[in-house]
Amino acid sequence: LFLSISIVLVVYLGYQNLFPQAEPPYDDDQEGLNGQLIFKFSHVVAENTPKGQAAAKFAELVDEKSNGTIQIVVFPNGSLYSDIEEINALKDEQVHMIAPSTSKLDMLSPEWGVLDLPFAFSEYDAIAEGVHGPIGEKLLQSLQKEGIKGLAHWPNGFKQITTNKGPVISPEDLAGQNFRIMQSKIIQAQFGMLGAIAQQESFNSTFKLIEEGKVDGEENTISNIYSRKFYTVQKHMTITNHGYLGYAVMMNQDVWDRQSNKTQQILLEAMKETTAWNDENAQKLNEEQLALIKENSSIEIHELSQAEQRQWMERLEPLYKEYEEIIGSELMEDLQDLKK
Ligand code: LMR
Repeated sequence: LFLSISIVLVVYLGYQNLFPQAEPPYDDDQEGLNGQLIFKFSHVVAENTPKGQAAAKFAELVDEKSNGTIQIVVFPNGSLYSDIEEINALKDEQVHMIAPSTSKLDMLSPEWGVLDLPFAFSEYDAIAEGVHGPIGEKLLQSLQKEGIKGLAHWPNGFKQITTNKGPVISPEDLAGQNFRIMQSKIIQAQFGMLGAIAQQESFNSTFKLIEEGKVDGEENTISNIYSRKFYTVQKHMTITNHGYLGYAVMMNQDVWDRQSNKTQQILLEAMKETTAWNDENAQKLNEEQLALIKENSSIEIHELSQAEQRQWMERLEPLYKEYEEIIGSELMEDLQDLKK
């Protein structure tokens, strides 16, 4: 008996040394094969995008800070859940972390539309000031009532317009065209205001919709246009910088509450570092990939002059009035303060 107990003890201690554990036991769905604490992080874009790279950076930092005992397993390209499914999957604890574009959160609460107001931000610094300041904070707080813990904003950048019916120079040029858009009422209203027809479709279906001629165009950041090769099936691209696109990184509140203080601390530290890193990286990547599109394709690119951009601003200005009540005066004022 003594011998068998010793053997079991030696094997057990050897196992513990080989695979140091964080703080077991975890919930079944979070326990890795080697006893690590696992968080599944699902997103819909490619790996060579701001969100793809930020998710990988976050995973690397968590691994480092936890000595390998906490693992963030990233599922890119909508391989686990599409943008239409991921919020419910998070609520149902099928996945532990997601980072949907903030435009898609207007299905949770319409105040998120503040970030989609046309020309809300004039440059990357203004984005950072907005989403890491009071506006971004209030929006993350608003997730609490949904049982969601908002962790951070990861900006991607500015949206541009691609289409096969161009060139698009004045806002009137969009009239009668079909566009794939994200799931967002305010974006739907924006295209409606310009006389265009907007279809809310998943990100993953966008390339095919364009390729098969089911839509004329779409709006997106350069990194999405580049990494999903939209530029290869579109004839025209207009650098409008007319709207913001970025992500709210989130976790199910119950999953968050179940973690130990130590784990929460590690996740928060890694999130803070990743967020600062993403602010620089997102801009750099969008600029690099614009150069690559220019180098590798014959897509016709028109960059709006300041005078042309003013025409777009004036044309879309009524959206601010239309959405004031829906978004709420507090966030509208925060945004106006930012523009001063
Ligand atoms: C889109 O659906 O076009 C974007 O939100 C995709 C993304 O997550 O960047």
